[in-house]
Amino acid sequence: MEQKLLLSQLGTDTIQGLSSNPKYLLSKYFYDDEGSRIFQDIMNMPEYYLTDCEHEIFSSQKEEIKQAICRGNKLFNLVELGSGDGLKTKILLKYLVEKAINFQYNPIDISAKANHELVQSLKTELPALQVEAKTGDYFRKLKSLNGHAAIPKIILFLGSNIGNFSDEETTDFLSQLAVYSNTGDKVLIGFDLKKSPGIIMDAYNDPHGHTRRFNLNHLVRLNRELNADFDIKKFEQQTTYNPQTGEVKSFLISNTEQTVQLGALEKSFRFAKWEAIFMERSRKYDFQTIEKLALNHGFKVVQNFTDQRNYFVDSLWEKK
Ligand code: AVJ
Repeated sequence: MEQKLLLSQLGTDTIQGLSSNPKYLLSKYFYDDEGSRIFQDIMNMPEYYLTDCEHEIFSSQKEEIKQAICRGNKLFNLVELGSGDGLKTKILLKYLVEKAINFQYNPIDISAKANHELVQSLKTELPALQVEAKTGDYFRKLKSLNGHAAIPKIILFLGSNIGNFSDEETTDFLSQLAVYSNTGDKVLIGFDLKKSPGIIMDAYNDPHGHTRRFNLNHLVRLNRELNADFDIKKFEQQTTYNPQTGEVKSFLISNTEQTVQLGALEKSFRFAKWEAIFMERSRKYDFQTIEKLALNHGFKVVQNFTDQRNYFVDSLWEKK
């Protein structure tokens, strides 16, 4: 009898990526439990300036952000895409609650665990906050929120998560955001800015080896979940920065000719010596590009909130 393999999304995407030329894996699969822990290590290291910058912006400019997003004291929905642990958002939430602002918080995340922990912590830290979390695909959940279409929305997409997208994915994402926004709705997007390449390379080519472990953990995940046999000693991690496109790219490079089996999928993949897998893009922007992105998708830039060093910007857009 013919046996049919039921492929998970991880399985399908992995086969597609490793069959491509050049090879790639999708960065969204970095975040299993171990990967999320390693990402915390990355965020905690001094070289990873992004977290500190956005933290500074939210701490020092919460009054300005409040003024920019609240119109009178009309009820609004504060929606957050990819809320994660919500550390930066909590600064703003706390402030809005203190000022008795009339709003509701809707975090949307693909991780049920992250959502659950966020809601639990908010219950104790901010009992007065109205919060309803949604687990799943950003846009499917946004659509379900559009039932409250009459209530104005502010959509947060922080942490330079947008930097992971290719040009095509960025266009796709912003087009969808535009579809789900009504005139006057706002979005606040975190962009990491172009800066001296040395500073960027220190953050993504760190001396502690966290970035390297973060990348190799993707292979460990494939070993566990797809019964693969990657030998992580046979892969080197490399980061590059292109100051013209603003793209940081991370690669895992096979240091020998080898064949890797994906047991659960009954597939094998050949690696030539020094063949690379493209693992992740972390794009850096300039203000001109950000403005163009807004205009191209029916938004206008209302205000840019930057940190003192001008390393990072949370850019507030309004739907025209
Ligand atoms: C979570 C996508 C914002 O690109 O800076 C950090 C992930 N990768 N170090 C980033 C990441 C390597 C991070 N984002």
